[in-house]
Amino acid sequence: MTASIHSIRALEILDSRGLPTLRVFVQLEDGTIEAASVPSGASTGEHEALELRDTTSSRYGGRGVLGAVASVNDLIAPHLVGMDPSWQSRIDRLMIEIDGTATKAKLGGNAMLGVSQAVARAAARAHGLPLYQYLGGTCAGRLPMPMMNVINGGKHADSSLDLQEFMIVPVGAPTFAEALRWGVETFQALKRLLAGRKLSTAVGDEGGFAPQLGSNEEALQLIVAAIERAGYVPREQIAIALDPAATSFHEQGEYRLTRSGQGAKTSAEMIEMYRKWVDTYPIISLEDGLAEDDWQGFSELTAKLGDRIQIVGDDNLCTNPIYIRRAIAGRACNAALIKLNQIGTVTETVEAIQLCRESGWGFVVSHRSGETEDTFMADFAVAMGGGQIKTGSLCRSERIAKYNRLLEIEAELGRAALFGA
Ligand code: PGA
Ligand code: ZN
Repeated sequence: MTASIHSIRALEILDSRGLPTLRVFVQLEDGTIEAASVPSGASTGEHEALELRDTTSSRYGGRGVLGAVASVNDLIAPHLVGMDPSWQSRIDRLMIEIDGTATKAKLGGNAMLGVSQAVARAAARAHGLPLYQYLGGTCAGRLPMPMMNVINGGKHADSSLDLQEFMIVPVGAPTFAEALRWGVETFQALKRLLAGRKLSTAVGDEGGFAPQLGSNEEALQLIVAAIERAGYVPREQIAIALDPAATSFHEQGEYRLTRSGQGAKTSAEMIEMYRKWVDTYPIISLEDGLAEDDWQGFSELTAKLGDRIQIVGDDNLCTNPIYIRRAIAGRACNAALIKLNQIGTVTETVEAIQLCRESGWGFVVSHRSGETEDTFMADFAVAMGGGQIKTGSLCRSERIAKYNRLLEIEAELGRAALFGA
């Protein structure tokens, strides 16, 4: 018998951009206290769970979360006190029922996720298990393939790049620790290349470099050069993944590549551009290549490139089984980005991943551009059987914290750790 929930309380803390977010503490009857913190996105999908913010207050320019704190303390906690913390899905469903809206607008997706994650941690502690094992079972031992975001653009940096994320994926690495080392060495080689060309080595929100380049394609060329400079073979050892976050430059039916000065493109022209890039560069994954409401474009993109590369949906799917089902039916993607705070509870996130699995889709557990030092998602990815993980670049501690946690898990698992295909 696990000790039951004694109390739940929330605290307004700051994220990696210095903006307020929530930390939720769950205390059990035996005195155990565990906490979890909630991240926050900048290029958000339209159908994400609502993030409750104090928009009418002047505190933090209307971005405070005291309302969400009150939601945890006054609206959620009284219902959960006395419950067994191992009842994860019952607790999550109860919150969904109390909220009663499709977008978690009443309680706030941020308030609900903070509670959901902190309850999972408290239960794991009560059972004497590491979080990845409590959530994933005794055989959970596969480390996720990291996608490391080494060049930032779009809403995450004031670089000249329209595309938001240029990531490296060490597909040939034998272990997670080696994958990470290959990534770091490439990141540092990239830094030297940029410095050699007198380009900025300052970083964006997710820790990738944010240089002023002549085109989006130049970023791809630089990354290939960095992979080689670091002594690795592009494609076989280290491949490239992209997240253009195309909704952010989609205006009035056009894809406006204004920052790089490359004009406007139609959906078909964007697909053609990606096809050429896939022919030329070692790209294996493309997330949000088109805008969230361009469903037809997504189906065409998947028809053209889906047998060669992974087509990931983020803004259009929002980790929501409703939209994932729609995309499966319309063959609009072949993988989903998974963000706990897009849907708002651990239970629903697990459901989204199960749906991906049943449909032969890939999945990528993801951080947000506004992060905290919380490493829940690292354990969560291992619990879900690995898949892929994107949690930023190879600098900035809120990103590195997740990688460090994965190193710890791999070491703890020892010979039981699995990695790669
Ligand atoms: P966000 O971006 O966290 O700013 O929404 C991440 C992504 O688009 O994958
Ligand atoms: Zn994305």
